[in-house]
Amino acid sequence: MNFKVLAVWSCFTLLFVWAECQKEKPSKASEKAAMKELKASGSKFPKVPSKKLKQGPPKFLKKSQVKATTVPREGKLTILTRAVAKGQFQKVSNTLVLRAGEALDLRCKGKAVKWRYPPYLDDDDVERRLRIKHFERHSQLTVTNSTAADTGEYSCWSFQCRDSECRDGEDKMGKTFIFFTDPQELFVPTEDYYEVIQLRTNHPTLLPCQVTNPAAKVTLHREFPPEKVLVDGLDISHDVKRGFIIHRPQPSHAGSLFCMANVDGVRQISTKYMLIYVNYPSSVPKPAIRASVASFRVGDNFNVTCTVFGESEIAVDFMWEYPGQQIGRPPYVRERTDLVRRGGQVQQESESILYVDEARAVDDGLYTCTAENLQGGTAVSTRIRLVPASPAPKKAKSG
Ligand SMILES: *[C@@H]1O[C@H](CO)[C@@H](O)[C@H](O)[C@H]1NC(C)=O
Ligand SMILES: *[C@@H]1O[C@H](CO)[C@@H](O)[C@H](O)[C@H]1NC(C)=O
Repeated sequence: MNFKVLAVWSCFTLLFVWAECQKEKPSKASEKAAMKELKASGSKFPKVPSKKLKQGPPKFLKKSQVKATTVPREGKLTILTRAVAKGQFQKVSNTLVLRAGEALDLRCKGKAVKWRYPPYLDDDDVERRLRIKHFERHSQLTVTNSTAADTGEYSCWSFQCRDSECRDGEDKMGKTFIFFTDPQELFVPTEDYYEVIQLRTNHPTLLPCQVTNPAAKVTLHREFPPEKVLVDGLDISHDVKRGFIIHRPQPSHAGSLFCMANVDGVRQISTKYMLIYVNYPSSVPKPAIRASVASFRVGDNFNVTCTVFGESEIAVDFMWEYPGQQIGRPPYVRERTDLVRRGGQVQQESESILYVDEARAVDDGLYTCTAENLQGGTAVSTRIRLVPASPAPKKAKSG
């Protein structure tokens, strides 16, 4: 047992020392050679199946994939360290402040490691200043010639692989927010001169004026009329790692806003944000469908009504699918919107009515109405049957 622990430890140490030696000349070939060397140097090192080596480093995740993965919470034992000098590593804290231009060298413990870093570093024109190298028991992320734009969150987590199944390791995550300070760039530069942001009812909105220096004094301003916006920490608050957050957007917040940063008497303004207020529904519509008939005879007229009760000033779009569509039967649809009182509340009633005149056999089937608002859509259906032509004459009303 003791021997095993010792072997693992020495392997770790060797890897780190070796990684340091490789820093100047990182190349795929040397990495492979070193792996081979490690493998060949005897039973002291845990065996790595050759298949794994061939597979190469695990690919890092795209943004969309990252979202889907559950990220384990930061554990007590951080797996993230930073090389501060040759062979010298430091645990990283929640926040790190570096000067733009400084090199970043992060190490993450684990057999299979995933990294997350500011998306900007994935851009091609960043000229591969970002490098990630995976080793047997750790992974290394380096950023050379750092810039203010590299400011952001860097995190890594290791996942356990048993057989061919990998899952995120519990409590094995390292995370730090790194500021790359630059007196010329108090805000993380963006490509856009202005950015359009939707203020949605009941949705906190972020104005992402990200500063590059945590010591910056940041204020929020309106362009027309020029005035400072009150940041009270309740309706609007500031987060040094994100920007300004409008917690309960109101139509009065709309307009052109910008942030101003002040560091040692140097002032800079951010990109401008065009805030547009959008009446945003709190939920998807819940339509109800009702046909004037359950069955019809050829030549009959009937209609199908789709109704949605919801918040006022929320647009609802209706779409119909009906059997006659396939032969290009022209639909006749009428829509209306009214305010109604329902259960003591004023609600908006939106309705779409599909008319089928002089029904034919082809109109037999499923009628589907989809009601949609900005949150999404819901479909409801009803079936309308053709009554087979029978020789019996129409029932007389008088019975
Ligand atoms: C980093 O900066 C140095 C000096 O300014 C330069 O020689 C080198 O090419 C740069 N490296 C990268 C990867 O941009
Ligand atoms: C739908 O059709 C029924 C009977 O065919 C008719 O009584 C009703 O008025 C129609 N509804 C509308 C909204 O036209």
